[in-house]
Amino acid sequence: MKIDGVPYRTIWLAEDGLEVEVIDQTLLPHHFEIRRLTTAAEAGVAISTMIVRGAPLIGATAAYGMALAAREDASDEGLKTAGAMLMATRPTAVNLRWAVQQVLGVLLPLPGAQRVRAAYAEAARICDEDVASCAAIGRHGAELIKQAYNGTSPVNVLTHCNAGWLATVDWGTALAPIYAAVEMRLPLHVWVDETRPRSQGAALTAWELNQHGVPHTVIADNAGGHLMQTGKVDLCIVGSDRVAANGDVCNKIGTYLKALAAHDNGVPFYAAMPFSTIDWTLARGEDIPIEERSADEVAFVTGKTADGQLATVRVTPEGSPSANPAFDTTPARLVSAIITERGVCPASGEGLLGLYPEQRGAA
Ligand code: MRU
Repeated sequence: MKIDGVPYRTIWLAEDGLEVEVIDQTLLPHHFEIRRLTTAAEAGVAISTMIVRGAPLIGATAAYGMALAAREDASDEGLKTAGAMLMATRPTAVNLRWAVQQVLGVLLPLPGAQRVRAAYAEAARICDEDVASCAAIGRHGAELIKQAYNGTSPVNVLTHCNAGWLATVDWGTALAPIYAAVEMRLPLHVWVDETRPRSQGAALTAWELNQHGVPHTVIADNAGGHLMQTGKVDLCIVGSDRVAANGDVCNKIGTYLKALAAHDNGVPFYAAMPFSTIDWTLARGEDIPIEERSADEVAFVTGKTADGQLATVRVTPEGSPSANPAFDTTPARLVSAIITERGVCPASGEGLLGLYPEQRGAA
């Protein structure tokens, strides 16, 4: 996707072909800065501090983190230690575990001398595959937007958090159908949930949509139910950090409330994700680990002051405790359909297995 007209992915190799560069998402939308990752430990910090975030991009960064680890120590023990360190950085997005295991699966059978080159090749392959998956999600999801178009007024799509190209290597998951629909010249408008406490919607989704000239409006998280009741939302599309084998969808905190409101108002509620987000080892969403982040993310907000500086201010009284569960799980019964790179399926075990028959009996 493009920033000020220049095409970017969210992660790429530096000119030396060894170090890794990413966009610092903690500074958006106010500053566009690129960070360089030179060690596996730096890749781990980039994930845990959310310089990079979003399930597919977390996986891609972990894959390049393994390549950086191979440069430092390509022994079995060195690679396994780095993999464990990376996997501990964020608990909910299963793409992280998937990517580390994918790279380890390629490297461990190889002689040590071949491992560094193979690690970089595998990380690049994972990134290219993510781009292709997200582009396919866009094509399948755009058909759902097309079906919702009545031929006159723009289709109103509500999305939560940032599941756009910033959350993947390119295109996005929930936003990929929106970008594809725009390319099809379907008129649409996006309601962007601000997504407290870290405001990925207000900061990142709004920035992306602005860059691409997609009509949108940022709303307080609590506005979605009212907009659905008053007929102002035609469909919802969200991403996911982990989907259980029964079709339960774990995503950014607040997604469940939007699914409840959509269900009550007969608004279709879609979840979009690549295959790497499906956890075939977990039977039900209740078993998905939910990340608890720092309470300070609730107690403080950061924004730009009139003189252009970033400032962080407290919004809760001193002494009031806060809590910060970062994800919730939407039961499959509230999800109208799941969109993956292979197509659209019911949110159920059988629905998923219909798209991925090779997983039947595998878990
Ligand atoms: O905490 P974050 O910003 O990493 O959470 C991101 C989300 O919840 C996204 O919706 C999800 O990762 C899907 S990304 C394509």
